[in-house]
Amino acid sequence: MSIRTICCIGAGYVGGPTMAVIADRCPGIQVTVVDLNQARIDAWNDPDLSKLPVYEPGLDAVVGRCRGRNLHFSTAVEPAIAAADMVFLSVNTPTKTKGVGAGQASDLRWIEASARQVAACAQGHTIVVEKSTLPVRTAETVQAILSAAQGDGASGSSPKTFAVLSNPEFLAEGTAIPDLEQPDRVLIGGDDPAAIEALAGVYGQWVPSDRILRTNLWSSELSKLTANAFLAQRISSINSIAALCEATGADVQEVAHAIGADSRIGGKFLKAGPGFGGSCFQKDILNLVYLCGHYGLHEVAAYWQSVVDLNGWQQHRIARLVVQRLFGTVTGKRIAVLGFAFKADTNDTREAPAIRICQDLLEEGAQLAIHDPKVSEAQIAADLGENLGDGWQRVATPVQAAEGADALLILTEWHDYVELDWRALAAVMRKPSWLFDARNIANAAQARAAGLQVWSVGCG
Ligand code: NAD
Ligand code: UGA
Repeated sequence: MSIRTICCIGAGYVGGPTMAVIADRCPGIQVTVVDLNQARIDAWNDPDLSKLPVYEPGLDAVVGRCRGRNLHFSTAVEPAIAAADMVFLSVNTPTKTKGVGAGQASDLRWIEASARQVAACAQGHTIVVEKSTLPVRTAETVQAILSAAQGDGASGSSPKTFAVLSNPEFLAEGTAIPDLEQPDRVLIGGDDPAAIEALAGVYGQWVPSDRILRTNLWSSELSKLTANAFLAQRISSINSIAALCEATGADVQEVAHAIGADSRIGGKFLKAGPGFGGSCFQKDILNLVYLCGHYGLHEVAAYWQSVVDLNGWQQHRIARLVVQRLFGTVTGKRIAVLGFAFKADTNDTREAPAIRICQDLLEEGAQLAIHDPKVSEAQIAADLGENLGDGWQRVATPVQAAEGADALLILTEWHDYVELDWRALAAVMRKPSWLFDARNIANAAQARAAGLQVWSVGCG
C-alpha cells in the first residue's frame, strides 16, 4: 500500500518537526497536522516563520518550503482523520499526577482520546502509528479501541479496518531537523507486514534502507524507553564522578575524555552538568520504574530509580554549593543566572535543571537576575511558580544580569556564554565575585584573570 495522505494528531515538539520533514522529503504525500490547541495551530500557520511555536534551527526553512503545498496545520481533526491513509498519534504522555501510579506511570488519557477519535472518524483501511513514547503494551489498548469500531462504515463506503504500528521518535530538541533528516535509525514495530512496509516506504524516500529497523510491537515500545534510560544513565554516571572529581582534585573533562576514548564506552553524552532536563528523560525512566514494579522486578526498578535520584541530588548540590561559597548565605544577594532552557538551542524549559536550582536559591532569599536568549518572562514565571514571589527578574543581557551581582551561575550551554567579556562583567559585579559554571563552557582562565573566583562542575 502506498501512502498518499497522512494525518498527525498533536502539533507539538515532535508532531510539528517530524511531519514537516516527512512533507519536505515526500512531495507526493499530503500531510495534515491537527491539534485541539487553536493558539498552537495559529502559530504554526503564522506567515512570520520566526513565530512558529517550536524553536528549532532549520525548521523555519522546512516549513516555509512545504506549508500550503503538502503540509497543513489545522484544528479540524475529524476530516483530516477521515482523509488519511495513515494517522500518527503524537500527543503528550506526561507522568500521572494522581490516581494509580501517580508520580511514575504515564498518563495515557490523551493517547486514548486520540485513538477513540481515529476509531470514530477513520474511513476504509487506516494504519495507526504510535509516535508518542508509550509504556510497553500500549498498542494492545490502541488495538482494542480500534477493533471495537472495525467493520463500521457509512453505507456505500468500504468498512473500517486498522493496523497498528509503533514508530517511536528519537529526535533531540535543538537538533530535531538534522536528527530527522539523517536519523541513526528509524524503528518500526508491528505484526502486519503490509503496514510495516507502507511506513518503511515513507521513510525509505530519504532514509537508507539499512537504517530502517523492524521489530515486534513490544520491542519497539520498550526500545524507546530503554534508549532514553541509557542516555540519562550516562549523565547521572558522569555527574556522580564529577562530584568525586571535585573532592579529589581530578578533572571530570579529562576523565570523560579518557574513558570516552575506549571505543566500547564512546565519547558522547559524557558532559557533566546541572543534571538532565527535558520533557522526557525523567518521565520515561519513571515509567520504566513503574513497569518494572508492575511486573514484580523491584531490584530493576530500584536500579533505574537511582538514575533519577542522582539527577535531583546534583541539582540541589549545585544550589547548596553556591550558598556555601557565598559565605553560607545568599539572603538579599543578587545572583546572575545565565540560561534557563533545559539545553541550548531550544526555548523548552520542561524539567530544566534551572527550575529546581533557582527555586532552591529563591528559598534561601536570593535575588535572581535571569537571562536566557529564548525563554520568555512568562515562561520563567510559570516554571518558578507564584509561591516564590518576586525574588527574580528577567534581564536582556548577561551584563545587565551581572550588575551588582555577587555571583554568576551558568546553567545552559548557550553559545553566547562561551565568549563572555569577563573584564566587562567583573567591572559591574560586587566583590568578591564568583563564577559558578555548571556547564564547563566559560573561559575560566579569563574569568580568574578578571578577578573572579571560579567553580566549574567536576573540576577539583
Ligand atoms: P507536546 O505537548 O509538545 O505536544 C502534544 C500536542 O498534542 C499538544 O499540542 C496537545 O494539544 C496535542 N493533543 C493532545 N491530545 C490531543 C487530541 N486528542 N487531539 C488533538 N491534539 C491533541 O508533546 P511533544 O513534546 O511533542 O511529545 C509528544 C510525544 O513524543 C510524547 O509522548 C513524548 O514523550 C514523545 N517524544 C518527545 C520528544 C521531544 O523532544 N519533545 C522526543 C521524542 C519523543
Ligand atoms: C532526548 C534524547 O536525546 C532523544 O533521543 C529523545 O528522542 C528525547 O530525549 C525524547 O525522548 O524526548 P532531549 O531531551 O531533547 O533528547 O535532549 P538531550 O540532548 O538528550 O539532552 C537532555 C538533557 O541532558 C539536557 O538537559 C542536556 O543538557 C543534558 N545532557 C546531555 C547533559 O547534561 N550531558 C550530556 O552529555 C548530554
